[in-house]
Amino acid sequence: MSIKSKTTDLKRRMRDALSGGGVDAIEKQKATGKLTARERIISLLDPKSFHEYDLFVEHAAKDFDMDKKYLPGDGVITGTGNISGHPVCIYAQDFTVAGGSLGYMHAKKITKIMDHALKLKVPLIGINDSGGARIQEGVNSLAGYGEIFYRNTLASGVIPQISVILGPCAGGAVYSPALTDFVFVVDKISKMFITGPEVIKTVLGEEISMEELGGARVHAEITGNAHFFAESEQECFDQIKQLVSFIPWNNVKKADSFPKKMPKSRKYKIDDIIPPDSKQPYDVRDVIKAIVDDSEFFEIQALFAANIVIGFARLEGQTIGFVANQPLVLAGVLDVDSSDKAARFIRYCDAFNIPLCTLVDLPGYLPGVEQEHAGVIRHGAKILYAYSEATVPKITLIMRKAYGGGYIAMCSHHLRADFVFAWPTAEIAVMGPEGAANIIFRKEITTAENPDEVRKQKIKEYKKKFANPYVAAAYGYIDAVIEPSETRHFLCHALEISSNKTEIHPSKKHGIPPF
Ligand code: HXC
Repeated sequence: MSIKSKTTDLKRRMRDALSGGGVDAIEKQKATGKLTARERIISLLDPKSFHEYDLFVEHAAKDFDMDKKYLPGDGVITGTGNISGHPVCIYAQDFTVAGGSLGYMHAKKITKIMDHALKLKVPLIGINDSGGARIQEGVNSLAGYGEIFYRNTLASGVIPQISVILGPCAGGAVYSPALTDFVFVVDKISKMFITGPEVIKTVLGEEISMEELGGARVHAEITGNAHFFAESEQECFDQIKQLVSFIPWNNVKKADSFPKKMPKSRKYKIDDIIPPDSKQPYDVRDVIKAIVDDSEFFEIQALFAANIVIGFARLEGQTIGFVANQPLVLAGVLDVDSSDKAARFIRYCDAFNIPLCTLVDLPGYLPGVEQEHAGVIRHGAKILYAYSEATVPKITLIMRKAYGGGYIAMCSHHLRADFVFAWPTAEIAVMGPEGAANIIFRKEITTAENPDEVRKQKIKEYKKKFANPYVAAAYGYIDAVIEPSETRHFLCHALEISSNKTEIHPSKKHGIPPF
């Protein structure tokens, strides 16, 4: 055979392999508003950067007439490419080929690209669109998932792992995304559940649609399994690109630095954000935008546990992770979900050497039977653990309330913040003035001729004494009381001089966080 005819043969083989599940299956995929697996990769990666591997891999199954079936690429596309110039390893399950189900060779392709990502120290992106374990391949499919989960765990904290759910992701298959760092979902397209509506109906007699059980909104708003929610696949890819611009490729590299830009101070006036009445709420995201470069804040899990805000921004061109109480929602309290949300993010930033900036305004942990029984002790401890364990630069700003456990938990000096600043509006105490006065002056109030008058007087006394930053500053728990307008200057300086920070903790195999 001449080179020419061999090349023609290669092209024919490629054409067959690239045809996916065929015209009908592709049409069906499109009719549901979904792109094909290859289109997804091309849309996400930089133009012409995708290099595909293992195109000619074929399944090895024999039972149930599988030996007579040709499944192009065994239902998954793998390769490498770039996102805004950053190298990434990527795989995308092809639902048009046997429903993207995961058989032995399909899993081998995924684990091979995962091994590459870990060895080359570049981010891994997995696009999930699959009916789950390939039923015909039995235990080999389960083995494949196990191999994926093991690698997800090994890669955790070494390379960023991003999961994109663009179709069904059912059964144990959901655990690979759950082990990764960021999960993206798209409205009406993403579905994640351990057992589907049919099984639920059979076992429990409950009727529920796929969307209500595990649609994109459910995971973005209720379960917290998803970190980013998009209306369309294209919006989802734009979000991924934005995320990749903020994070380092791996745990030894620094995130890209960008040209420094001042905040949009006409739009976000830092002096005017906090209302004069300390009971009035405000949007803490406006404070972040008033401080950071170009007022650009990339929020994570925006729809879940909105009483805490987490996300990335830049100061002087460097990526910073922000954790901030949100007074707009439940007065910014810490509860089960917000503790989980913040703790995981803190650990991500620490693993990838991203400095942390914490903005504090909260009345404490949320009291109540529901929270106690939901495990607020265990979940609330996660945030204490995560901050204490983190060795990246940690800068804290107390803007208003910092009461009780909330004061300690939100990266106080006691959990080894490097710098704690407070605005003059800060109130640092064991609890709010009303509650405190009712307890410590109970006798005086109840025995007074005019209890309401005495209560008011005592609250005023308490406020004067403790509802300020100066008692804490007198003990050195606050490093500087600053004017709001000085915030960016103080934060930038603190980050600059913390850039060579080293902190050594006791040697151990690993800690035992309150998972
Ligand atoms: C083999 C599968 C498959 C699977 C789908 N297909 N899921 N083949 N194994 N798990 C095939 C179908 O036979 C069909 O092939 C094609 O993919 C498209 O599927 P449809 O059902 O026609 O598509 P749709 O109507 O869109 O429904 C999609 C679906 C449904 C909701 C995902 O296919 C479904 O319920 N599949 C089974 C889901 C499931 O129970 N998976 C096992 C989970 S347990 P043809 O040839 O007709 O085109 C699990 C354990 C993992 O994953 C444990 C890890 C620890």
